[in-house]
Amino acid sequence: MKKRVAILISGRGSNMTALIEAASAQDYPAEIALVVSNRPQAAGLDRARSFGIPTAVIDHTQFGGDRAAFEQALDQALRDHKIDLVCLAGFMRLLTPWFVQRWSERMLNIHPSLLPHFKGLDTHRRALEAGAERHGATVHFVVAEMDAGPIVAQESIAVHADDTEETLAARVLELEHRIYPRALRAVAQGRTTI
Ligand code: GRF
Repeated sequence: MKKRVAILISGRGSNMTALIEAASAQDYPAEIALVVSNRPQAAGLDRARSFGIPTAVIDHTQFGGDRAAFEQALDQALRDHKIDLVCLAGFMRLLTPWFVQRWSERMLNIHPSLLPHFKGLDTHRRALEAGAERHGATVHFVVAEMDAGPIVAQESIAVHADDTEETLAARVLELEHRIYPRALRAVAQGRTTI
C-alpha cells in the first residue's frame, strides 16, 4: 500500500512539483493525495491542480491570529484525506508543538542549507557572508524547534568565488528537487528509524 502524502505549501511549489513527479512513478512508495496552502494565491496550487491532485486552502488570515484553530483545521483536512505523511515544502508558517506532536515522525521539511548551519531565512545570503566553502540542502523530520530534527537526507555543493545569492539559490534548488523525493521514498518505505 502506498503511503498517502500531503504537501503543505505557501508559494511557487517547485519542491512540491518534484515530489509529484517522483510519485508518478509506478514503483514509488507514496502517492500525493493532497496539497494544502495557507495562501489562496500560492502559484503551487494551480500547478498541483494541473496534475489532478486535490487541493485545499486553509487561509491563516481567516483565523484572526488563533493559531490553534488554524492548526485544528489543517489537522482535520489531513485526517479527512487519510494522510499518512506530511511534507512541508516552502510552507511559511511556524507550527505549534501540538501540531508537531500529532504528526511526530510523520512530517518532513526541506531547508535550503546544510543544517545545523543557517537555520531560518536568507540562507544563501548568510552562507555567502560567512564565506562558506560548501552549501546545500537538508530534509529532516519536523520537531518543535524550527529547522531542527533528525536529518533524513543532505547534499552539498561547492560555493564558487563568483556566486551571488541567485546563482547559489538556483544550484541549491536543483539539489532540493533531487533529495526531497529520495528522502520521502526512504521514509515511506519505512527505511528510517529515529
Ligand atoms: C525552498 O528553498 C525550500 O527549501 C524552502 O522554501 C523554498 C520553497 O521553494 N523551505 P518552492 O516553493 O518549493 O519552490
